[in-house]
Amino acid sequence: MPFIIAIDGPAASGKGTIARAIAGHFGFHHLDTGLLYRATGAKGGDPVLAARSLSVEDLARPDLRSAEAGQAASRVAAIPAVRDALVEYQRRFAAQEPGAVLDGRDIGTVICPDAAVKLYVTASDRARAIRRAAELGTDADAVLEQLRDRDRRDSERATAPLKPAPDAVLLDTTGLSIHEAIERAKSIVAGVR
Ligand code: C5P
Repeated sequence: MPFIIAIDGPAASGKGTIARAIAGHFGFHHLDTGLLYRATGAKGGDPVLAARSLSVEDLARPDLRSAEAGQAASRVAAIPAVRDALVEYQRRFAAQEPGAVLDGRDIGTVICPDAAVKLYVTASDRARAIRRAAELGTDADAVLEQLRDRDRRDSERATAPLKPAPDAVLLDTTGLSIHEAIERAKSIVAGVR
């Protein structure tokens, strides 16, 4: 049985960096599931058809990391048929030996409810805005509004809203360096393995 690690949390909480590091450390595959929604939003046209026809090229577009792509992603992510179109790909990815780390919003709750480890990574709004602003080279106040907007949409949607699975371990990275956050996550995983 492959070992599945589900990592969920709001935007810029550090979940992506943690997921990559954990996958590298344990020799597991890693999928940033936000990219699927970003590519769907960026593709334009009918979002359901876009989700059904995602290609490797769509996922490699250089503009997917922008704030605009993040907002477009969270709008298409609220459409149940878009989410349905992406479930199968994510579950197949998760089933790879020897294991996989998937990060997103609904991995522990919907995509992989039987994951061996579930982490819910959070940080204060301010800490998340400062990190994201540093990545994008912009102002933290402007980023803060966008993050709140996106988190509100992600948490309040009817289908697969952002929320911790009941059996998720909470990891608050507010006062932690990225190195410390990764070490905590590693020890949580090692405790289960
Ligand atoms: O993680 P990232 O910021 O790249 O995700 C972009 C958007 O995609 C999120 O704001 C959310 O609306 C959506 N998403 C989702 N479910 C996931 C991953 C991302 O709804 N598993």
